[in-house]
Amino acid sequence: MRARLRVGALASGRGSNLRALIEACRAPDYPCEIALVLVNVPGAPALDIARAAGISARLIDHREFASRAAFDAGLDAALRAAKIDIVCLAGFMRLLSPGFVAAWEGRVLNIHPSLLPAFKGLDTHRRALEAGVAIHGCTVHLVTAGLDEGPILARAEVAVRPGDDVESLAARVLEAEHLLYPKTLREFARARLAEAAVTPPR
Ligand code: GAR
Repeated sequence: MRARLRVGALASGRGSNLRALIEACRAPDYPCEIALVLVNVPGAPALDIARAAGISARLIDHREFASRAAFDAGLDAALRAAKIDIVCLAGFMRLLSPGFVAAWEGRVLNIHPSLLPAFKGLDTHRRALEAGVAIHGCTVHLVTAGLDEGPILARAEVAVRPGDDVESLAARVLEAEHLLYPKTLREFARARLAEAAVTPPR
């Protein structure tokens, strides 16, 4: 049995979830290594975070591609060249095309800043506050063709406090994300490694 799966992380911005995954992978018994980071936004801090950690990292700017499918083919080629087993979206703010999702079915994880199925899409903290929910949080799920609709792997609840604004709530949810994502990836990867064979993507 292999000891570690090769993770490819996709990011678009600040990269704090990427940093949390990188730090988790430092533990000798963690069942993954971040083998490649792909960033689609020039100047995104996530690229520097990956490089500072000594991880192979590339900018693949979606604006340089004629279509979403062409951009996703670029991602796919880079991931396959690096022999990636699992893809982790870490603040990756692009929809993936149906072809990419089908090829990587069951091996793309995403972290979303709400308790799915509530508040799919963007601006989740503002919408949660406006809806007056008492409990908000974050979700790690498998990526399918529908936006934020794939099977849920794990969720973490965050209580909304009186006086919370978008910033204070977002900060507490982000703290929860940084715990939930590494923990869920660990469990997911352990289960995959325990399967008879880790097969390559379609
Ligand atoms: C995180 O809150 C993540 O859950 C969210 O973007 C933020 C990225 O922060 N992702 C989405 O909204 C995906 N649709 P980070 O770059 O510091 O990890």
